[in-house]
Amino acid sequence: MCGIVGYIGNHDSKEVLLKGLEKLEYRGYDSAGIAVVNGKGVQVFKEKGRIADLRGIVDHNVLANTGIGHTRWATHGVPSQENAHPHQSNTGRYTLVHNGVIENYDQLKREYLQDVKLNSDTDTEIIVQLIELFSKNLSTEEAFRKTLKLLKGSYALALLDEEDKETIYVAKNKSPLLVGLGDAFNVVASDAMAMIQITDQYVELVDKEMVMVTKDQVIIKNLEGMVVERKPYTAELDASDIEKGTYPHYMLKEIDEQPLVLRKIIQKYQDENGALTIDENILTAMDEADRIYIIAAGTSYHAGLVGKQYIEKMANVPVEVHISSEFVYNTPLLSSKPLFIFISQSGETADSRAVLVSIKEMGYEALTITNVPGSTLSREADYTLLLHAGPEIAVASTKAYTAQIAVLAILAEVTAKAKGMNLDFNLVQELGIVANAMEVLCGSKEEYEEISRSFLSTTRNAFFIGRGMDYYVGLEGALKLKEISYIQAEGFAGGELKHGTIALIEEGTPIIALATQESVNLSIRGNVKEVVARGANPCIISMKGLQQEEDTFTTPEVHELLTPLVSVIPLQLISYYAALHRDCDVDKPRNLAKSVTVE
Ligand code: F6R
Repeated sequence: MCGIVGYIGNHDSKEVLLKGLEKLEYRGYDSAGIAVVNGKGVQVFKEKGRIADLRGIVDHNVLANTGIGHTRWATHGVPSQENAHPHQSNTGRYTLVHNGVIENYDQLKREYLQDVKLNSDTDTEIIVQLIELFSKNLSTEEAFRKTLKLLKGSYALALLDEEDKETIYVAKNKSPLLVGLGDAFNVVASDAMAMIQITDQYVELVDKEMVMVTKDQVIIKNLEGMVVERKPYTAELDASDIEKGTYPHYMLKEIDEQPLVLRKIIQKYQDENGALTIDENILTAMDEADRIYIIAAGTSYHAGLVGKQYIEKMANVPVEVHISSEFVYNTPLLSSKPLFIFISQSGETADSRAVLVSIKEMGYEALTITNVPGSTLSREADYTLLLHAGPEIAVASTKAYTAQIAVLAILAEVTAKAKGMNLDFNLVQELGIVANAMEVLCGSKEEYEEISRSFLSTTRNAFFIGRGMDYYVGLEGALKLKEISYIQAEGFAGGELKHGTIALIEEGTPIIALATQESVNLSIRGNVKEVVARGANPCIISMKGLQQEEDTFTTPEVHELLTPLVSVIPLQLISYYAALHRDCDVDKPRNLAKSVTVE
């Protein structure tokens, strides 16, 4: 949600900033801007729309060794050129980019800036105007610090001072921000991905720290002005992982990567004897917990629903799954020894982080399952399990979802074994079968393209139905379809239709039914008959061994507990093609951003 970059060194900063922003565009793409500073002062270029639009208006003759940039996902103020970042103070001395939300901006405006003319509707402008106000009596560093102390909410900030062209001032609270170290240059980025082409050495910033970045030095201070020492780490990101290669879209590439990711997960969680293994401390926490609370949002929440089944069925520990944004207000009665599991691809989701902060205050332990090592949720939890899925760049999550389910299955299995329980199947073997099945499914793209064309190309809405775990996969299928094709799609439990939803069925309404679970196969087929009798156009996805003549598509057979890992692939691909057929921007759907760092 908004991406920030900065560069200070000996080379021209424009191209580094624009390339960095292109890598961060998944975080928001309403508008974008850069500011560069050279002997002639600061120059700002900003535009509504994508980085490509920004490129079109940047004056490529301007040469400057220092600059900052921003790609925006609007929170305060509509997407427009005025509201795009960077924002400048009224004299033009200070220029700022910001990711996050300043909760007390109205109060700060009333208290300090009544006589100051504001030029945008953003909360960000308040920050830069305050810095200028305080700089009348203070150095920039002091004015910046004084401003930071007044801010309530989340921020990642990069600031230029026209009177000090050798420094980028940086600060963070709750929103992610890294400083990257190079040889005679340094960079600032919301995510290492933005700058991995030029450095793999990064310094993590902690909340309420500020940093003075010059081309040769990085000085971190806390808000009391004390210097903080921190060692850099090596970001383990392969630059080629973040390229599309020959694929037309990241989403398609990431769907196709799923068999490979699954095999990598198996390998990463195996010991030298081939048995699945997990950090002893996590197992102790799982063993001691009397109830597990899974906290997540969106697709990760859907993976959590499947994970609950695994942990309960395999390890016999009760699990509740909660949407993170709701948990903060509707905290349930907690058991006496809870363990919290946060599932988050990005590890940055602000709603989940708010829960993490509050349960840590209550003294409880947390495990984060994430794709991003060193992400906020990983750093702040007691334990982390990594997804090893490689960077997921398409806004619609695909490979992270299946990776989350696979890691949850492994967690459940290893916990069960540690408790001395015997499972009647070999998970490594069964996951291997799933990886093969995924490969088969990814090889049948023409079929999904055709299904999608015939079922979805002109429809206004579509419904997904299933029972048990198929219902959870249906929820995920509906989310995929709606977010990238804008078809109004909902997932329903098959048995629930007759309690209201069936009223929505009209002649030709597409119904995508999942029938991969033997125990509910006949009942879901009964539900399909009910909607067909009312005019629905059914698309039935079944699993080998359960198929019937009327089925549209049959997946290879896998263990009944692991069907979500395969049945979701047709749904991902059907959504992908529906979005293509409707001319939608598959990788960057409207109004969305990949990493939701505001509550
Ligand atoms: C949907 C999607 C979102 C995310 C949600 C949580 O395709 O990607 O629903 O799953 O925003 O994000 P993470 O997993 O990063 O916490």
